[in-house]
Amino acid sequence: MSKILVTGGLGFIGSHTVVELQKEGHEVVIIDDLSNSSEKVLDGITAITGITPIFEKIDLKEKADVEAFFKKHSDVKGVIHFAASKAVGESVENPLLYYENNIGTLVYLLKELKNLPEANFIFSSSCTVYGQADELPITENAPVKPAESPYGNTKQIGEEIIKDTCKVVPTLNAIALRYFNPIGAHESVEIGELPLGVPLNLVPFITQTAAGIREQLSVFGDDYPTPDGTCIRDYIHVVDLAKAHVVALERLLQKKNKDSYETFNLGTGKGSSVLEVVRSFEKVSGEKLNYKIVERREGDVISAYADTKKAKDELGWQTELSLDDAILSAWTWEKKVRGL
Ligand code: UD1
Repeated sequence: MSKILVTGGLGFIGSHTVVELQKEGHEVVIIDDLSNSSEKVLDGITAITGITPIFEKIDLKEKADVEAFFKKHSDVKGVIHFAASKAVGESVENPLLYYENNIGTLVYLLKELKNLPEANFIFSSSCTVYGQADELPITENAPVKPAESPYGNTKQIGEEIIKDTCKVVPTLNAIALRYFNPIGAHESVEIGELPLGVPLNLVPFITQTAAGIREQLSVFGDDYPTPDGTCIRDYIHVVDLAKAHVVALERLLQKKNKDSYETFNLGTGKGSSVLEVVRSFEKVSGEKLNYKIVERREGDVISAYADTKKAKDELGWQTELSLDDAILSAWTWEKKVRGL
């Protein structure tokens, strides 16, 4: 059992990962500033695992607080770093907020990890680093394309910062996990996604529309060069994704990594179009979804899905849950949140 720090551990992917870490016997300490999460998530985690993780309400931008944290928890063996801002549009309007939140805090964290006798670091990255890849499915060797937004850029720069630091800090080992599209909720329905305001992502928009919170889903374009004209993405169940974090962390703790800095794609390997997601929702929920086709959304790539070979071969990890499983769990969660 190791003491693991999870930053952003009360958020969507963070909370599901905390559950899987606890299930594997790790002691979890969460740092979260509650800017896009709630302390109530702790109750959900406790309801599932029977263990309440240690929680420190810290804003990672406060360097002195980060230093004080590592003085108090000098026995931390691993860090999974989720805490970051992730709204693409907001990042275009306020780039400095994104560079401060996502890059400044990463630097503070790495400075602390440098001082530890041994540090194992897992970074939340995104398939957004590939942009529109020339070849599908997307392997880890696909070139990183110029970022479409400051948010995307923070993931690219973040990866570079970690890679450069690993080169000169022999006690630091890191893995960047490039997520495709995480959706769904824990099967217990104790934790799930809690978007603030109008959801920007497809699945929460679908479930909120069906729950009567939104009037209609806008499908952004049906004239793309895909079989049904809508964009294709690789939707991965958040519980599968959470498990991948534990596997990646174990790889570092057990010193099975082949390089001090590695990258892995986390996806199912299967692409689904927007209309296929809508149909999956209608099938598993038995509800008719109100949607209309509108203009394309600026910045959307046509198609992105993962080549899963490296994760399978090197991590021994692959997804177990289907798109229908994920959509059903998202819908069950939405109904619970809305009291339906
Ligand atoms: C988006 C971000 C990406 C980020 C990821 C984090 C953009 C352009 N990309 O990815 O950088 O890493 O979220 O979760 O914002 N769609 C609709 N109607 C909607 C919402 C979405 O048709 O109301 C479509 C989109 O056009 C897209 C698909 O659904 O084809 C998935 O969209 P979304 O959930 O926003 O994810 P990404 O665009 O893949």
